Amino acid sequence: MSILSIEARRASTADAFGVAAVHDASWRQAYTGIIPHMSLNTMIRRRDAQWWARAIRHSTRILVLETLGQIVGYATLGQNRVSALSQQGEVYELYLMPEYQGVGLGKKLFLAARQELEAIGLKGCVVWALEDNVQATQFYANAGGMDIAEGTETFNGKSLNKLAFAWG
Ligand SMILES: CC(C)(COP(=O)(O)OP(=O)(O)OC[C@H]1O[C@@H](n2cnc3c(N)ncnc32)[C@H](O)[C@@H]1OP(=O)(O)O)[C@@H](O)C(=O)NCCC(=O)NCCS
Repeated sequence: MSILSIEARRASTADAFGVAAVHDASWRQAYTGIIPHMSLNTMIRRRDAQWWARAIRHSTRILVLETLGQIVGYATLGQNRVSALSQQGEVYELYLMPEYQGVGLGKKLFLAARQELEAIGLKGCVVWALEDNVQATQFYANAGGMDIAEGTETFNGKSLNKLAFAWG
């Protein structure tokens, strides 16, 4: 029996197409029926491979999971954007291809993202998730995140609650 090992690594511009594909598939799966169709389509179209190549080149911190030559997940991270929260780091996005969810890869990528925050000197971590995205809120609660703040995001006139989970 062979065991396939998948490790997180920093993205390079060669990964841009793969990250765009994960973004497209996972955002459609996670947000269809939550974010209005038009806003969701606009956000997905804007983040094409060229957008991701630019983001990678301009040193947005992006980690990817790759298996058998395919990018199956990505995470973006950096400084916490909300000064009222004491955690210095933030995982902005954590997304897996739908067919690769639920087998431990999200946990692996999230731990790698938190390690990367520590490695760049950012202590503590916050993550925002839409309250209606139950898969995400349960994942972060299960990972030991404390639900510490709330906010709202408006998409095409529809207001949605979001929750902040924190570690450290
Ligand atoms: C959220 C997401 C990143 C989680 O990754 P995943 O690979 O599916 O989750 P894992 O298989 O690594 O699960 C890790 C742990 O969380 C638990 N878990 C995962 N999904 C869960 C759920 N819906 N309900 C309860 N527990 C859950 C697992 O049982 C596992 O528990 P353990 O650590 O006690 O063994 C992934 O499902 C995803 O990409 N979802 C769509 C996009 C999304 O919503 N991203 C977050 C936006 S903020």
